[in-house]
Amino acid sequence: MAVKDPYGHELSGASVAAADLYQRALDAYHCYAGEPFPLLQQAVADSPDFVMAHLLMGYMTLVGADVATAKIGVRAFDLAKDLPATTREAGHRAAVAKIMAGELQAAGRILEDVAIAHPRDVLALQTGQLMDFLLGDSRMLRDRIGRALPAWSADMPNRHAILGMHAFGLEETALYDRAEAAGREAIDLEPRNNWAQHAVAHVLEMQDRRAEGVAWMRRDGSPWTHESFFAIHNYWHQALFHLGLGEIDEVLSLYDGPIYGDRSSMAFDMVDAAALLWRLKLRGVDVGDRWAPLAAIYAGQPRGGYAFDDVHAVMAYVGAGRHADADDAIATMIAAVNGPGDNAMFTRDVGLPVGQALVAFGRGDNARAIDLLREVRSRAGRFGGSHAQRDVLDLTLIAAAGRAGETSLERALLAERAEALPLAKASPALAA
Ligand SMILES: [Fe+2]
Repeated sequence: MAVKDPYGHELSGASVAAADLYQRALDAYHCYAGEPFPLLQQAVADSPDFVMAHLLMGYMTLVGADVATAKIGVRAFDLAKDLPATTREAGHRAAVAKIMAGELQAAGRILEDVAIAHPRDVLALQTGQLMDFLLGDSRMLRDRIGRALPAWSADMPNRHAILGMHAFGLEETALYDRAEAAGREAIDLEPRNNWAQHAVAHVLEMQDRRAEGVAWMRRDGSPWTHESFFAIHNYWHQALFHLGLGEIDEVLSLYDGPIYGDRSSMAFDMVDAAALLWRLKLRGVDVGDRWAPLAAIYAGQPRGGYAFDDVHAVMAYVGAGRHADADDAIATMIAAVNGPGDNAMFTRDVGLPVGQALVAFGRGDNARAIDLLREVRSRAGRFGGSHAQRDVLDLTLIAAAGRAGETSLERALLAERAEALPLAKASPALAA
């Protein structure tokens, strides 16, 4: 008889021992904390035909990583591609194939169907929500999880993961009170849940509750930091709280320590590093020689794969004064408009004009930066990320208006921001 997971899903090819290792790896993945990868290696060593263990390795290595890490995922998929699988497992396999092809909308749709049929498949919900994040699809960030909630009772294992995901979707649709409640409930159930920690941090960011934000990240010895593989992004949020409080030394200390002290080559980590230095640049803070190593790592990587990453590479090049590399990145993005996968749309609609705006801003051509950013900003969600991440575009536009002497525009943008986002009221000196 087939081995099943705690929710009743069959696990093809798994022994009882391997299924246990896999579930422990999943538990860690749901928290973005722990050591899931060695557990999965043990699981496939025990049960080489364990299709979901291979596919979980694929999910963990193919998104937001670097080229060497992604190759691990390609190998894992190769090992899984001809194995016997249930319909649910075949759905996951098809989703991983779509991710490898850069077809994230298709992957997200397949994972929708898996979760509609199996609303207790936490992995389908988590990886599906990750697609929504990469696609900037606020509504689906919320509703993909909301539609599964009736299948979740209070006593089910990993309910914290569902609550944490729902919290983030509620936050991205500006339902802040409900988002905070769901996130805090998730943390009460599992203090190490980095995604729930993160969802509440987003609420505090959007509501300009910065002192509370610092306290939230530092609470009770910061259990989210233990063995976290999402820590860099959560520290980035902590740095934004300090930035809003004008505590620049704290920001730089976090940058030099947990955010970019290890000089990660992982795409998600580099995005956070670049975005933080860019926000400091907009405020006129001297970041010393911090741009150079980040730009050097970007220069050693291929571009044109994902517009959101390319834009942050351009930030690093402009920040480091590597203007030729910035121009090369723009040329690669122009070519990517006719390339494969969803990135063609991400680049055409958002990434390319944003990249060109950043280059113009770096060269002091504020009028062009303003033109490009005003044209693109209302549709910027299409290239992925969160509202907090994409806020860097509005901050750059305000700074450009200030530098161009466009005082009426600057005043209008600040007034608009103060109405829409309370945080601007506490941060009037954006264009220093
Ligand atoms: Fe975030």
